[in-house]
Amino acid sequence: MKVFIEKLDDFGRGIAHVNKKVVFVKNALPKEVVEIKIIKDKKSFSEALIVKVLGVSNKRVFDVCPYFNICGGCHLLHLDYDDTLIFKQTKIKELLKKNKIDYEKEIDIVKSDIPLNYRNKISLKIENKEIGFYQENTHKLIPIKECVLAKSSINEVIKNSYLLNLENANLTIRSNYNDEILLIINTCEKPNIELDKLKEKIKLVGIVFNEKTIYGNNFFYERLNNKLFKVSFDSFFQINLNIASKLFDFILDNIRDDSKVLDLYSGVGTLGIVASSKALKVYSVEIIKNAVLNGIFNASLNKRNNIKYILGDVSNLVNKINEEFDTLIIDPPRRGLDKNTIDFILRKKPSKIIYVSCDANTLMRDLKKLEDSYEINDFKIMDMFSFTYHVECMCILNIKDR
Ligand SMILES: C[S@@+](CC[C@H](N)C(=O)[O-])C[C@H]1O[C@@H](n2cnc3c(N)ncnc32)[C@H](O)[C@@H]1O
Repeated sequence: MKVFIEKLDDFGRGIAHVNKKVVFVKNALPKEVVEIKIIKDKKSFSEALIVKVLGVSNKRVFDVCPYFNICGGCHLLHLDYDDTLIFKQTKIKELLKKNKIDYEKEIDIVKSDIPLNYRNKISLKIENKEIGFYQENTHKLIPIKECVLAKSSINEVIKNSYLLNLENANLTIRSNYNDEILLIINTCEKPNIELDKLKEKIKLVGIVFNEKTIYGNNFFYERLNNKLFKVSFDSFFQINLNIASKLFDFILDNIRDDSKVLDLYSGVGTLGIVASSKALKVYSVEIIKNAVLNGIFNASLNKRNNIKYILGDVSNLVNKINEEFDTLIIDPPRRGLDKNTIDFILRKKPSKIIYVSCDANTLMRDLKKLEDSYEINDFKIMDMFSFTYHVECMCILNIKDR
C-alpha cells in the first residue's frame, strides 16, 4: 500500500491517512511517499512499517547508525540535527495549544554542542554472550557493536564486553567527565571478569555485581561547572553533561540573592548546590538514600553549609514541610507531580517555580493545574536527549498578582 506522509506525530512517526483512518508510519518523514506494511490494525488507527521509500524527503539523512530502525532507541536519526530541534519546538507549541496554555513568547531551544556520543549512562542486555538492546516493545535482542548516542568511553566497554565473561545479564555502564567507568551488573552467574585485561582497555573505577562492590568503588565523581559531585551507582545524574552544564547556568540565573529555596526531587543535590551560592537557605528532598548521602557529602565537598537534606517521598513529605521558602525547584521523574504536591504548591504559593521536566505531557498537565495561580515567564527546551523524541523543558513560573 502506498501512502503520503503529512507530518510527524509526538513520537517522531510519520502520519498518513488511509480511508480516513490515521496510520502511524515509523521512520517516515513529511512529504515522503512510502510503501507500507500494516503491523497493527485497530478501530481508530493503524501502525505500519516502511517497505520502500518511493519519494524521498530532501530532509532525510542516511546511515548514521546501522541499528537505526531496528533497535528503537533513537527516533530521529534520519533527520538533520537542526530539523530534530524544529520537530521538538513544533511538538511543544502544539502541546501548549492543545492544552490551551497561555505562552505568547517564542520558545527558546538550547542546542547541544555534542548531539551524538553524549549519553553517560546506558543499560544493555547480555544474552547467550551477545550484547545489545531489546527491540522496542519486545524481548528480542538486537546485538550491537556500538551506540551512536553513547559516549565513546562507553562504546569502548561494549567493544571489550567479552572480557566480562557473562552469558546472560543486565549491564549498566556509567561514565563520568573523565571517561572513568562504573559497571553495574545483575545476573544469576558468578563473577568471572578478566579484570587486568579490562583495566588495560578502559578507566575502570568500580564494578557493582548483584548489588555488591566487587572491584573499586560503588560511586564515581562527576565534575561540572567547577563543581564536583559524588554519584553512587544507584543515584541519578543528568545523562547529557553538555546540556546539564547549560541547565545549571539557567538555574543560577533564576535564583535571587538571599532567597529561600525548596529543591524537590534533588538527586545528588546538584540543582540545590548550584542555587546555594546565591540563596540564603536550600532544602533538598530526595527518595533514594544513597543520593541523599551523596548530597550531604557534595554540599561539604563544594563548601556549602546552607543546605538541609531530607530523605523521603516528596508526596508524603510535602505535608510535613514547615520551612519557609520563596523559590521552588522541581525536577520530577517522567510521571510529573502528584495531587499532594500540586496541592502543597497551591497552598504555599512560592513566588517563583523553576520546573525542570523530562516529559512534555505530564508537564502540560501540571502547568494546567497551576495556571490559575502562576504565569509562565520563560519556557526553554533543553536538548538533553538529542535525536530521540524525548524533550527536556525548563519553565519559569511567577506567581500572578494577588
Ligand atoms: C529527574 S531526577 C532529578 C535529579 C536532580 N534534580 C538532578 O538534576 O540531578 C529525579 C529524581 O527524583 C527522585 N525521585 C523519584 N521519585 C521521588 C519521590 N517520590 N520523592 C522524592 N524523590 C523522588 C529520583 O530518585 C531522582 O533522583
